[in-house]
Amino acid sequence: MSDPISVFVEEIQASRKYRSLRLPEDLLRDLLERELAAGRSQKEAEKLARQKLHNIVAPYLGDPDYPQAKLLLEEAFAFGDPALQKQVCTRLLQAHASTRERLPFLEEFYLALFSVTGRPGSILDLACGLNPLAFPWMGLPLSIRYFACDIHQPRVDLLNHYFQLQGLAAVAEQRDVLADPPPYHVEVAFFFKEAHRFEQRQRGCNRAFWQAVRARWLLVSLPSVSLGGHHSLRDRQRRLVYGVLQGLPWPVVELEIGAELVFCIEKGDEAQT
Ligand SMILES: C[S@@+](CC[C@H](N)C(=O)[O-])C[C@H]1O[C@@H](n2cnc3c(N)ncnc32)[C@H](O)[C@@H]1O
Repeated sequence: MSDPISVFVEEIQASRKYRSLRLPEDLLRDLLERELAAGRSQKEAEKLARQKLHNIVAPYLGDPDYPQAKLLLEEAFAFGDPALQKQVCTRLLQAHASTRERLPFLEEFYLALFSVTGRPGSILDLACGLNPLAFPWMGLPLSIRYFACDIHQPRVDLLNHYFQLQGLAAVAEQRDVLADPPPYHVEVAFFFKEAHRFEQRQRGCNRAFWQAVRARWLLVSLPSVSLGGHHSLRDRQRRLVYGVLQGLPWPVVELEIGAELVFCIEKGDEAQT
């Protein structure tokens, strides 16, 4: 007979809400095991693990229709028209709140970031969502080494499809970056709009995670205003970031572009190019 953790994992993976995402088993186990290790009953632990999973997957942020998105990209690239390709990328970036909010500032966003870091030859996009579809606005050559990680398999598949059509030396992979940080050495790592959710999943986890990222620059972004746009979140986000960094010798350059605060953290880890 299966143990209760495996039963929970199977239930989530088969559920109507999550089955199309093909979530990694390790993530689901980790969520439940941590609640059980905190001394909760099986029932309570499963309830909390489900709540955390909802917050991690954040279905309320939105998704494109993935099969249709692949077709749209194929059509745009078949025409060989960069303007049309950008149009389709824009439409897809609009489907998810994180990238939708960044869209009006996209070119300015990457210009500002790379004016701090220099134009990178390698990028690691952690918990990437649909952000790699913003590549046409990054002002980077196709020869860049671009690694993207997310837990959401349809997103990962779509990104690999796009990378191939675009002719990029890039790979998207399904990975729980918290439980299993990527081993790649890069010049610049993006960790956009997710650090606050990591704290909700596991309080204090950002410190070890940021230490594990092998990048010369780690760019952490957080929303500077609440979703409705009414409340400033700047002080709260600064407390989070500087709390994580306490005692670490890494200089930080702060930027604010649109409604996004970006902390450019110079870790100084050597990139392997
Ligand atoms: C709020 S969205 C941000 C997307 C992107 N970074 C951006 O700002 O455009 C968070 C993304 O992180 C992914 N995610 C959450 N936890 C993760 C983890 N532990 N490892 C990898 N991806 C994760 C989610 O699937 C989602 O695509």
